[in-house]
Amino acid sequence: TVHERVDTFHDNDQKPVGYGRMLRKEDPRFVRGRGRFVDDVRLPGMLHLAILRSPVAHARILSIDTSAAEASPGVKAVVTGAMLAEQGLAWMPTLSNDVQAVLATDKVRFQGQEVAFVVAEDGYAARDALELIDVEYDVLDPVVDARRALEPDAPVIRDDLEGKTDNHCFDWETGDEAATAAVFARADVVVSQDLVYPRVHPAPMETCGAVADFDAVEGKLRLWSTTQAPHAHRTLYALVAGIPEHKIQVISPDIGGGFGNKVPIYPGYVCAIVASIVTGKPVKWMEDRFENLISTGFARDYIMRGEIAATRDGQILAIRTNVLADHGAFNGTAAPVKYPAGFFGVFTGSYDIEAAYCKMTAVFTNKAPGGVAYACSFRITEAVYLVERIVDCLADELGMDPAELRLKNFIRPEQFPYTTKTGWVYDSGDYEPTMRLAMEMAGYADLRREQQEKRARGELMGIGIAFFTEAVGAGPRKDMDILGLGMADGCELRVHPTGKAVVRLSVQSQGQGHETTFAQIIAEEIGIPPDDIDVLHGDTDNTPFGLGTYGSRSTPVSGAAAALVARKVRDKARIIASGMLEVSVADLEWDKGSFRVKGDPGKSVTIQDIAMRAHGAGDLPEGIEGGLEAQICYNPSNLTYPHGAYICVVDIDPGTAQVKVRRFIAVDDCGTRINPMIIEGQVHGGLADGVGMALMEMIAFDEDGNCLGASLMDYLLPTALEVPDWETGFTVTPSPHHPIGAKGVGESATVGSPPAIVNAIVDALEPFGVRHADMPLTPSRVWDAMRGNARPP
Ligand code: CDP
Repeated sequence: TVHERVDTFHDNDQKPVGYGRMLRKEDPRFVRGRGRFVDDVRLPGMLHLAILRSPVAHARILSIDTSAAEASPGVKAVVTGAMLAEQGLAWMPTLSNDVQAVLATDKVRFQGQEVAFVVAEDGYAARDALELIDVEYDVLDPVVDARRALEPDAPVIRDDLEGKTDNHCFDWETGDEAATAAVFARADVVVSQDLVYPRVHPAPMETCGAVADFDAVEGKLRLWSTTQAPHAHRTLYALVAGIPEHKIQVISPDIGGGFGNKVPIYPGYVCAIVASIVTGKPVKWMEDRFENLISTGFARDYIMRGEIAATRDGQILAIRTNVLADHGAFNGTAAPVKYPAGFFGVFTGSYDIEAAYCKMTAVFTNKAPGGVAYACSFRITEAVYLVERIVDCLADELGMDPAELRLKNFIRPEQFPYTTKTGWVYDSGDYEPTMRLAMEMAGYADLRREQQEKRARGELMGIGIAFFTEAVGAGPRKDMDILGLGMADGCELRVHPTGKAVVRLSVQSQGQGHETTFAQIIAEEIGIPPDDIDVLHGDTDNTPFGLGTYGSRSTPVSGAAAALVARKVRDKARIIASGMLEVSVADLEWDKGSFRVKGDPGKSVTIQDIAMRAHGAGDLPEGIEGGLEAQICYNPSNLTYPHGAYICVVDIDPGTAQVKVRRFIAVDDCGTRINPMIIEGQVHGGLADGVGMALMEMIAFDEDGNCLGASLMDYLLPTALEVPDWETGFTVTPSPHHPIGAKGVGESATVGSPPAIVNAIVDALEPFGVRHADMPLTPSRVWDAMRGNARPP
């Protein structure tokens, strides 16, 4: 069942064409330090912007005195919320139809909120002047705990919203409550478990920033910004700032990691635009690490109760969950409009069950806004963690092996397309071979034996399994839009006379290797070597409209667009070839890069010959225009559903409670694989993310609302020292509706790895009777769990 589609072939120079392990085309630029990031943009006369942020989590603003800052050397402008309010620019819409303050006017609602900005000749002058701004705050009680937010006497955070008298943000439910209750009532075994997915931060290597350049003569705004979605941002700027859309160019150059952090529009971007309009000069804003961690989009922060009902022999019958979602001070969730809880609805996982139900309540708290999909497709990480943890709790209750329990309950291959009890239509899957391969690679039976021996000696070794199904590639226009913009993606392909090509994409790479893999997709379809194909993205004046890169949507949506646009070009090339070879179209066969006459292989023309003819002198077949190019907009008919089986082996030092991830086996199935090397890189990165979340990452707050994770000294990211050598494998179950059968993979490992690691740790702690302990499993948390004091964050 394990096979790799390696139909890579070589041209005369032995260069690979099409799918396969091709080195990344973008890397010569990056390894030589020649990448061009937003902070590398330097325009003549450029000024620098710095933002004054609130030191407190909740306070009324009584007054702001900017006079000393204005008089500071090099300062060109100091702007407050009151000044923005005069222009109607103090508030902006969020991606979830809430509003967020660009600069605070009435109150500050989280520590680090934007209060004023300074524009100066250089960054130092701007930051020095911030200290001279005198803000008088009337400090209010903060709400930092989501449970506290719902108490009747809790301070009301969002009193800017008319008639708002509490901290309730939204309610949401999915599945069938009554049917699920009925199944639970008759089940032999019911297990329930409280779980917290802590607040974490995407923490990309490059922080967020922008350079705004408003040309008053042309009436044109050029904005270089760290955005994963340049086209969507352009439309939103047009709607908010009233600048006509064709007069806005958003350029997203090289981006140093996004992971969802660069999906929202941040106040800093808007401030840079305002500053450029006010000063008539280009203005740069680059936040520092501290600002990135305290004010930009967080992820997770779900308090969940999971319940699972089963028969005594391990047939899972139903899953139910209740979630309290902490959305921070403004609802900045990035998800399609119909899905306020993102794709959390896939919490039924990879199992064929009878009933499911979820009820969710979301609240406002005095914390930074967000709810971004940190390396996951809109809250799928939370859903997978929930189901994979409670399935392990059930295995524990039943005294059953967790691998066996999963194998017994998988959706079977013949059941696809499979509609879940919460209405998601899984396109395809073949779970058992993936699971069996992971077990074989791990040597599962041997590991269990080793564990027995070690336990007898008092050593703590754990084996954790997670099996996930993701839903990626948002999404079908009929169901999915972000602020009214449909989630389809454009693609344009031009083949030049000499047979070299350029493809223009609406998605935006942040390190995923799109310049390589999209060239490979085109190469596979039209036989032009990938090195002869340039991939352009990240410039709204020069690429077709589309919604950008997040939620592993590039391959499912834009990858499909690239394959189809190439086929459109190939169809035209076939007609031109028929004229060149003087045979009918039906007499031609495609041979990866050339058309040849059936039965007469000596008679053929290459795609390069055809390109020259398409642009050259001489007649073309009746009704065919010159040129060799095409454009499409692809609307996916469904999401794609990659899956994977992960097995983690940990050792815990009984004396220090330090967890060591000794082995990690990851078998991923993302359908057709374009570039296995890039896929492995994506998986390695995501697994490291998982180690971070499971063992060390958390944005915590003290009772005054001070952010305790505001630097990389406090917000710990995993390094090479904390991660093992990853052992990766794959199976291939192509997507039936995707033109090349590919599913997304960029985020699978971030989604699947945390439950595997936590399951392994809980398994190691079995001698202590531990059934659950919340992430991050730092030595102190593990120590507490060993002593029967497992505590939530
Ligand atoms: O949207 P994003 O690029 O973050 O995620 P993705 O679509 O999963 O793709 C991540 C990288 O893996 C891209 O370079 C893809 O082309 C590559 N990939 C692949 O080679 N084969 C697949 N089946 C899926 C992705």
